[in-house]
Amino acid sequence: MSNRTIRIFDTTLRDGEQSPGASMNLTEKVEIARALADLGVDIIEAGFPIASPGDFESVRDVASNVRGVTICGLARCNDADIDRAWEALKCAEHPRIHVFLATSAIHREFKLKMDKDEIVQRAVAGVRRAAGYCDDVEFSPEDAARTEPDFLCRVVEAAIAAGATTVNIPDTVGYATPTHMGSVIRNLVQRVPNIDKAIISVHCHNDLGLAVANSLAAVENGAGQVECTINGIGERAGNCSLEEVVMALRTRQDYYHADTKVVSQRLVPTSRLVSNITGLAVQRNKAIVGRNAFAHEAGIHQDGMLKEPRTYEIMRPEDVGFQHTDLVLGKHSGRAALGDRARKLGYRLTAEQLQEVFENFKRLADKKKEIYDSDIAALVDQQIRVETDAWSFVSYDMSTRTGDTPRVKLTLRHEAGEKPQEVTKEVAAGDGPVDAIFLAIEAITGYEVHCRDFSVHSVSVGKDAQGEVTVEIEYRNRRFRGRGVSTDSVEASALAFLNAINRIPSGDAIAQDKLQPYS
Ligand code: KIV
Ligand code: ZN
Repeated sequence: MSNRTIRIFDTTLRDGEQSPGASMNLTEKVEIARALADLGVDIIEAGFPIASPGDFESVRDVASNVRGVTICGLARCNDADIDRAWEALKCAEHPRIHVFLATSAIHREFKLKMDKDEIVQRAVAGVRRAAGYCDDVEFSPEDAARTEPDFLCRVVEAAIAAGATTVNIPDTVGYATPTHMGSVIRNLVQRVPNIDKAIISVHCHNDLGLAVANSLAAVENGAGQVECTINGIGERAGNCSLEEVVMALRTRQDYYHADTKVVSQRLVPTSRLVSNITGLAVQRNKAIVGRNAFAHEAGIHQDGMLKEPRTYEIMRPEDVGFQHTDLVLGKHSGRAALGDRARKLGYRLTAEQLQEVFENFKRLADKKKEIYDSDIAALVDQQIRVETDAWSFVSYDMSTRTGDTPRVKLTLRHEAGEKPQEVTKEVAAGDGPVDAIFLAIEAITGYEVHCRDFSVHSVSVGKDAQGEVTVEIEYRNRRFRGRGVSTDSVEASALAFLNAINRIPSGDAIAQDKLQPYS
């Protein structure tokens, strides 16, 4: 039996961005879109153009800069949304408009206040308008998994007749089980007369932890496209995880007789990129891309692995993009080795960037014996972050003791005008060392902000591991996120706080006020 090729529709930049606190700026979105194209996904849903001017711009930028892949924009079934989506998408090499309208009884009655006939009319009008702009149109009956089967068949048939080339079946609230989702798709395959004129897609949310299982059940029953996100990020508990569904199909081709065009070796670098940009950490035991996904702890497993890896390993770490050994470089490694490793991790560095990263690498190697891939990724990300920053960290000197107010002397560099200037201030305030350093930064930069979120996690393993701090600050009702990495947690906190403050002048805030598609 030959394999079917399942299309991968990535919605990291749209549904993924609806994860609380996961907003990305324009440059970051284009960087992720390029990484998704390199990963080999078929369709990138770049955003919801009418949601905000920022969303419009990012869909337009992705559409004009990323080639070789279909670029999609979301729209509700109304003229203004569809026209705006087309405006953003029209320069794409392969544009797709994705229109959606809720169909379940609960949405019809309480949200839309429309009866079944009105829903069908509105869906048909939306698809027709989109089809007037481009020949690749996707229609989603929102909350399809809770829609009466007969009515779902009616809407899907009408949408295809109106010009939909893909019909996407969302489990919007993550309510379905695999058997249920399988039967929803089977019902459409068996009962919609024109179903062969469109690709059936599936879009599962993970509220019950079943998004991947439900998507696979849909594939088994005839779906030819899966909608998913990197690391499974998305609304509430997230979406179907791209890396999991792709590797399930690849590893179990004997069962599914299906595969995708994804270059699986790019999964880990893409996962790291999305995690670094969004600040949403990947849990250690996350299937496929988690740090422990291929770590064998039990002695009996290790023994089996040494004799024959296939005894306990159903996939090879290198197949998903982990390097064979994670322990890579040390004090004596040279710039070329570092550059080579950074390239393998998915970074494209200029000679100047490599030189800066190499100097920081040497400083790190003095403090830390073993340098892991994750350390290198953190150093490179830190370098990319600070390059455009006006304020940078130079040094601090702190004295603190239980019960006493900490005293900190902080020096920052300011890149303003021709000559960078160093500014030093001493502050005796705060509840502890981190608070004191934040107050010193505010005193030097002149920005008074509120810290709304602060988290720290270790980048690699061991007592000397680097700590990565993520902060979210609020300034004049807008939120800005920053990250910083160091073996010294106070310095990492200072770097993160400064990174967030540096975003204030350019207005690079976390978008909070944009329209969400479910509203
Ligand atoms: O979950 C959902 O129903 C959606 C639609 C907009 C496709 O994201
Ligand atoms: Zn969704």
